[in-house]
Amino acid sequence: MLSQILQKCKACSACKLCETKTNTVFGCGNENADLMFVGEAPGEKEDESGIPFVGPAGKLFDKYLEYVEIDRNEVYIANILKCRPPKNRDPLPEEEDACISYLREQVRAIRPKIIVCLGRVAAKRLIKPDFRITAEHGKWFDKQNFKMCAVYHPSALLRDSAKKADMLKDMKMIKEVYDSIRKEALEK
Ligand code: URA
Repeated sequence: MLSQILQKCKACSACKLCETKTNTVFGCGNENADLMFVGEAPGEKEDESGIPFVGPAGKLFDKYLEYVEIDRNEVYIANILKCRPPKNRDPLPEEEDACISYLREQVRAIRPKIIVCLGRVAAKRLIKPDFRITAEHGKWFDKQNFKMCAVYHPSALLRDSAKKADMLKDMKMIKEVYDSIRKEALEK
């Protein structure tokens, strides 16, 4: 099912970003993941490779995953936008509107139990429009069948290392909830 969505997404021309992208950055990881991370949009390295979070922000994110002993291959990682905005500018509302159905279809296919937004753009789109990342990172929201929360975007940590302690705390808390959900599933 994900492969069908991928084919549709690769052929998409619903917004202008398809004219400037190199590759569609659809998503990667475990198609049966209980835990899904959603970022904002591909950057330069992601556009070159077609894989999310492989540039400097991705490398930092990998360190947090490693630290809390979450294997990148066991989770699924995607973005709100599948094509890179020129010069990494913020996604436009109309680009998000044009692209969001791919993410919805991905979520429907993967059926994760936990969705973690990486940064404010994903949190505003997926949790609530008035989400405040500084005040509300690390807080849980129950939405439909998912537990959702947001953490700082790894690029924000590259710009401001004072946020790193909060990121570590949030990632540890996510790991605890993730472990408890997996344990519950085994006991059923
Ligand atoms: N930033 C994002 O939000 N997503 C990526 O895939 C890379 C950088």
